[in-house]
Amino acid sequence: MTIPTPDARRIPTPSCPPPDIVRCASMELVVSDLTASRDFYVDVLGLVVTEETEDAVYLRTLEEFIHHNLVLRQGPVPAAAAFSYRVRTPEDLDRAVAFYSELGCRVQRRADGFVRGVGDSVRVEDPLGFPYEFFHDVEHVERLAWRYDLHTPGALVRLDHFNQVTPDVPRAVAFMQTLGFRVTEDIQDAEGTTYAAWMRRKPTVHDTAMTGGDGPRMHHVAFATHEKHNIIAICDKLGALRLSDRIERGPGRHGVSNAFYLYLRDPDGHRVEIYTQDYWTGDPDNPVVTWDVHDNQRRDWWGNPVVPSWYTEASPVLDLDGNPQPVVARTDSSEMAVTIGADGFSYTRPDDAADALPSWKQGEYKLGHQL
Ligand SMILES: [Fe+2]
Repeated sequence: MTIPTPDARRIPTPSCPPPDIVRCASMELVVSDLTASRDFYVDVLGLVVTEETEDAVYLRTLEEFIHHNLVLRQGPVPAAAAFSYRVRTPEDLDRAVAFYSELGCRVQRRADGFVRGVGDSVRVEDPLGFPYEFFHDVEHVERLAWRYDLHTPGALVRLDHFNQVTPDVPRAVAFMQTLGFRVTEDIQDAEGTTYAAWMRRKPTVHDTAMTGGDGPRMHHVAFATHEKHNIIAICDKLGALRLSDRIERGPGRHGVSNAFYLYLRDPDGHRVEIYTQDYWTGDPDNPVVTWDVHDNQRRDWWGNPVVPSWYTEASPVLDLDGNPQPVVARTDSSEMAVTIGADGFSYTRPDDAADALPSWKQGEYKLGHQL
């Protein structure tokens, strides 16, 4: 990993060890209309209701055995309230407290958890401004993997990853490495600007990604489905329900991660990715893949354009009091500007001249050139 991080921007490395994070496990989303959100996630996407209260719905995927992967909570400001990770042992919560306390972060611990179904938990405002949660003790529920009578054509089987928007990607990556994450892929340019990075604890492409932009904000939460045809089925269902305007981008094949993807927006605009078929990364010498920001196959392997909203829009994140975190503007180059802005360019073949992309294709990438 060769992303340079000037010392002045670097978040200090605590002297105590980080918690041993197993995987991304759940997200808590604040929604403005719980009924509308429940309709979307349960009736349209088919997530399973584990438990409901007056102001919250706890949902899980079909292969999950812990209480929930998604908490929808009614609240005044649609936002992400927690990026929640499972840690390996109860003692890892002590490590989380020590690790973040040494960094001067706000840290809260509740022996009976912040949400239903989870025991002793730690919540922090991390140095990047994100609300992170750690837990080990959790209520087990029925794993519905074999309950094919409950599976729909678009069945969502696992929570796969988070994606966070942050202004300074190298700074964020360096911090996440002190937390034990490893980089799988990133997007850079020849001048050394880093636009995004994908990082993992579990042996898939990622548990979370850092996307360069004004932040801290939540870009998306991603659920895995088994096969490509499951994603097509979700698109067909949305069409049949006259909900095609929930589709923001895709379906398509990513360059980064090699996964098949679809991006949806929920009733509050929270972005949800449906994702399948990335690759194994569990070997100790798993090679890092770096993409050129001008490679028009990096974000869509077929060269389809990324819609501007995907670059610019994201959800606020909350502090531990439930207030939206202030957003800091990105000062490094914008990926949208260098690829689809007025001065942007992209290529299909790296040795081509800058104007080699066919005019009809190039037009797609230029804002204002869309028909
Ligand atoms: Fe993603």
